[in-house]
Amino acid sequence: IPVEPFDLVLFGATGDLARRKILPGLFHRYEVGQVPEEARIIGSARTDMNPDDFKADVRAAIEEFTPDTPSRPAVLDRFLGCLDYVSVDAMSDAGWAALNDRLRPDVVRAFYLSVGPSLFAGIAEQLEKHGMATPDARIVVEKPFGRNLETARDLNASLRKFFQEHQIYRIDHYLGKETVQNLMALRFANSLFEPLWNATHIDHVQITVAESLGIEGREAYYDHSGAMRDMVQNHLVQLLCLTAMEPPSKFTPNAVRDEKVKVIEALDPVASTDIARGQYRALEGEDGYLDHVGDPQSRTESFIAMKVRIANWRWAGVPFYLRTGKRLRARVSEIMVQFRDPPHTIFPNVEPVHGNKLIIRLQPDEGITLRTTIKDPGPGGFRLAEVPLDMSFAEALGADSRPQDAYERLVMDVIRGDQTLFMRGDEVEAAWAWADPIIEGWERTRDRPFPYDQGSSGPEEALMLMHRDGRRWRQIGG
Ligand code: BG6
Repeated sequence: IPVEPFDLVLFGATGDLARRKILPGLFHRYEVGQVPEEARIIGSARTDMNPDDFKADVRAAIEEFTPDTPSRPAVLDRFLGCLDYVSVDAMSDAGWAALNDRLRPDVVRAFYLSVGPSLFAGIAEQLEKHGMATPDARIVVEKPFGRNLETARDLNASLRKFFQEHQIYRIDHYLGKETVQNLMALRFANSLFEPLWNATHIDHVQITVAESLGIEGREAYYDHSGAMRDMVQNHLVQLLCLTAMEPPSKFTPNAVRDEKVKVIEALDPVASTDIARGQYRALEGEDGYLDHVGDPQSRTESFIAMKVRIANWRWAGVPFYLRTGKRLRARVSEIMVQFRDPPHTIFPNVEPVHGNKLIIRLQPDEGITLRTTIKDPGPGGFRLAEVPLDMSFAEALGADSRPQDAYERLVMDVIRGDQTLFMRGDEVEAAWAWADPIIEGWERTRDRPFPYDQGSSGPEEALMLMHRDGRRWRQIGG
């Protein structure tokens, strides 16, 4: 079903994110008939360029970043017909009146700020000044959404001067991932899990977002952020919220976001002894983190593991272990829910029977596994074995169900006016209010991260964090 006609102004249209994700995503939705012919996508950046040059640039991006199908050339020609370009300068009045002239008064209007956060306030102001910030216009922004509570508040305040909360779409691209949304389906569209989803039945939860890549090409940004700001404050906290939140009464933007905020507000402060930070070291013939950022003194972490507690009735005493890092063994994102051991064993002479594990694989190889204990068949007495009850989305849903890209889904939600998968201002601020003292802790003591080998599972200290509690991390990458 096509969405309503719209005017989407894409600031930063010649940037990497626009070329890799946003424009290919829009193209795909055009291909399947969801973006109507009357849609206008107006690229905008400081570069002085005519619309034809912009279209040539977009053509190259689509050819590079979308699958080559027999119909693509013809569809692409038509898609380029929806494109336009206007050059503007966020810091001056140049170009803004021309941009306003291109906008139609009677269609959905969205401004996607695919630019650095230092430009958010200036662009918002220009949009207001030139009469484009109409009451139903939408503005889309993305992280880094501040680097602490104070800067996040400033950013929120500068957007709210000209746009109301219901017009502001803050992207966390993890929420656009099908498998992340599936967490809500799994929990709230099945009757099996929810009765067990609490401290009575769950021993602990592990959330892992491991990457095999490093920080290539983003050294300056990354060294200023580190894994806590880059991944935990946003993506891992979102995964934690979706795993831990109470069932919202309905699937509406504020009902869902209210429940997520409650989880964040219930997070206990994290003791420094419950954190292990790491930094990948040089290997023979392979530069390490310090070489990559060109600062031998950098104390920025490229890995972090931590034990987090949610102080509420449902989760009292259930630790959530989070970890994320660069240059690890494999690219794996998953959530593992470890159920408690059966309270009593009736089988004599067998190993202690372990609790079930529910593993939700977010990427790659998206799917769900329930580790189950069965009788080991064959002679030799009554023995038990732990086997996987396995479901892969690709197999279960068939070849047509290619997971759609996160951005594609999110951009269409902006046009539809659905904020469910976007972060509300108070949510971002709550996550910083929790993260700030943690970061200040190691900044104050000037702690250095522990070195770890590239291609490993992170530093020894992260393993110790678990061993100390008599638990073990799931192995990264099988
Ligand atoms: C981004 C981080 O938000 O997410 C990157 O800034 C990280 O450092 C990326 O690599 C991971 O996203 P994905 O979709 O590849 O898991």
